Amino acid sequence: MRWTQFLTLLLAAPGGAVVRFHCSQLVVERLDPLVNPGSIPSSHVHQIVGGNAFNATMDPAKDLPAESTCTTCEFSEDFSNYWTAVLYFRAQNGSYKRVPQLGNNQFETAKAGLTIYYMQDAIYDQGQKSKVKAFQPGFRMFVGDINARTLTDAARSRQLTYVCMDTWTSRAPETMAFPTRRCPEGIMTSLRFPTCWDGKNLDSPDHVSHMSYPETGTFESGGPCPASHPVRVAQVMYEVVWNTKIFDDLEWPADGSSPFVWSFGDATGYATHGDYVFGWKEDALQRILDAPCWFDTKCEKESNAKLQSIEAMNNCTQKAVVDEDIDGWLDALPGGFQADHGHNAA
Ligand SMILES: *[C@@H]1O[C@H](CO)[C@@H](O)[C@H](O)[C@H]1NC(C)=O
Ligand SMILES: *[C@@H]1O[C@H](CO)[C@@H](O)[C@H](O)[C@H]1NC(C)=O
Ligand SMILES: *[C@@H]1O[C@H](CO)[C@@H](O)[C@H](O)[C@H]1NC(C)=O
Repeated sequence: MRWTQFLTLLLAAPGGAVVRFHCSQLVVERLDPLVNPGSIPSSHVHQIVGGNAFNATMDPAKDLPAESTCTTCEFSEDFSNYWTAVLYFRAQNGSYKRVPQLGNNQFETAKAGLTIYYMQDAIYDQGQKSKVKAFQPGFRMFVGDINARTLTDAARSRQLTYVCMDTWTSRAPETMAFPTRRCPEGIMTSLRFPTCWDGKNLDSPDHVSHMSYPETGTFESGGPCPASHPVRVAQVMYEVVWNTKIFDDLEWPADGSSPFVWSFGDATGYATHGDYVFGWKEDALQRILDAPCWFDTKCEKESNAKLQSIEAMNNCTQKAVVDEDIDGWLDALPGGFQADHGHNAA
């Protein structure tokens, strides 16, 4: 759906919120307190946003709003951390260069980062009538599979997609593999987390199994949660805009494949993944979800939440603790990875 078409849907008053806001870049480096806690460096490069208490080790009992002195998110009470891997371009001589990110539509002056959504029903549902409980302190989750190299592997985590952006507001068509043509406005990655919680565990050893997709249908179609994961939660979605345009003039693979590679080597795109560490202050997220509102400024007004300026978001940064070159032309991806086209690659 085109962005403009989507905005015309926003005429009826919703019962609850579709919250949409941006978070600027906090830091880009090899740290991962969820999957590789304590490792400095962690396996691969991430781009991280949110509260500046982000660290190699993050005790789930830690009070993130109290430990942070600022956040890169527009809602100033959100000290959560949200992160993804980063994209690299692989030149025909085998060298890699990091693909920079852009702000998103309506957040053009934000310093990179990602856009977050929390929604109670499908984004195009004008009602947003399904009340949901906000996540609890200490809650974490992961979506995706870093070992996925085929469509079948990727389909196990639903709704992790790419859009080859013909215009700045393109949101379709979505693909599960990397786009293979030059995208006039860059590539958007979208990550939608599972929406059924087991109601007991704030995390699980694989960071996935305390969550589930609906038993049938999808979140969008109102599919029921399975008995093992009966609690329906808000859908968390990330959008990340990658400025691939700067590589349009270089030579691309002669076989028509994509020149882009995730920071852990996946050259298919099927292994896109995201990490979430909840850290909203007190009941701020619940208040916003319960307010009948769309996006950021309206939700600020309806819920009494506080927004900060994009300049203030951009001012919150963290110095990388891992000292290595992630931005030059590199012979290997940081951590030693090379492009992996999967089992069927020639
Ligand atoms: C990260 O953790 C280390 C070790 O506990 C600590 O010295 C450092 O101040 C922490 N950094 C941040 C940004 O909280
Ligand atoms: C590889 O190609 C890129 C893009 O043309 C170029 O900038 C870089 O210097 C090359 N690296 C080497 C080692 O030749
Ligand atoms: C952002 O940082 C700049 C430079 O330190 C400072 O002049 C400005 O007042 C800050 N703005 C906000 C909104 O914090």
